[in-house]
Amino acid sequence: MGLPACFRGLALHLPDTLILDMRKDLHRVVAIDGPAASGKSSVARELARRLGFAYVNSGAIYRAITWHVLQSAIDPGDTSGVGQALESVTIACDIVNNESRILIDRIDPTDYLHDDRVNEGVSHISGVPRVRSVVVQKMRDYARSHNLVIEGRDIGSVVFPDTPYKFYLNASPEVRLRRRAAQGQRDEITMRDHADSSRLVSPLVVARDAHVIDTSLLTIEGVVNQIIDRLEQKGLHVPS
Ligand code: DC
Repeated sequence: MGLPACFRGLALHLPDTLILDMRKDLHRVVAIDGPAASGKSSVARELARRLGFAYVNSGAIYRAITWHVLQSAIDPGDTSGVGQALESVTIACDIVNNESRILIDRIDPTDYLHDDRVNEGVSHISGVPRVRSVVVQKMRDYARSHNLVIEGRDIGSVVFPDTPYKFYLNASPEVRLRRRAAQGQRDEITMRDHADSSRLVSPLVVARDAHVIDTSLLTIEGVVNQIIDRLEQKGLHVPS
């Protein structure tokens, strides 16, 4: 986990201190987790801009894989079909203009990531363990080359458990439904909340050491300012 490829097989036999040492190539990571429409994307993007970090949307990687599965006429509930689709696809993740970009077999699926059918299928796809391990590896790869603000469901709990900068955003279900409707999207938030929180692998949880912010009555700037105050208290230098 998180080790250079040449060391991976050895990791089981090495003392923890040495493994931590080999992980020092990771850059700083600010983890922003929370349920759908809790404000994560807007907050994470603005926070990244203020910090001069790259912004990574981990949900977009799950969505891009969902889009590919649907394009391949595979049912998102067909776990072995999804596994086979993963074996034969090239998923390239890079940073363009300080934001994550995903190419699936060299195609940029950004315009389709919030299609109704992707909204409906993504909870199935993100519950497949093989999919999760591919996506987690992609996120850790990003942290080898960039300081990151990264948003998702398991960033603080599973992907980067060692980062001291963890935040969990929430908002009332009514506010979240209103936000999605204002974006012109049909998204079964309650159903997705349930699927994301109850799945067996990496369910949505509040990481033990995360700072929780209820965004229901706050502006994006208000949330970003709260996060920046907290980061400064923790000793992170924030450009003025
Ligand atoms: O953030 P989003 O709504 O675009 O995420 C889409 C789905 O991907 C969400 O329903 C759960 C899943 N997801 C996840 O399981 N883990 C993450 N780190 C990010 C997203």
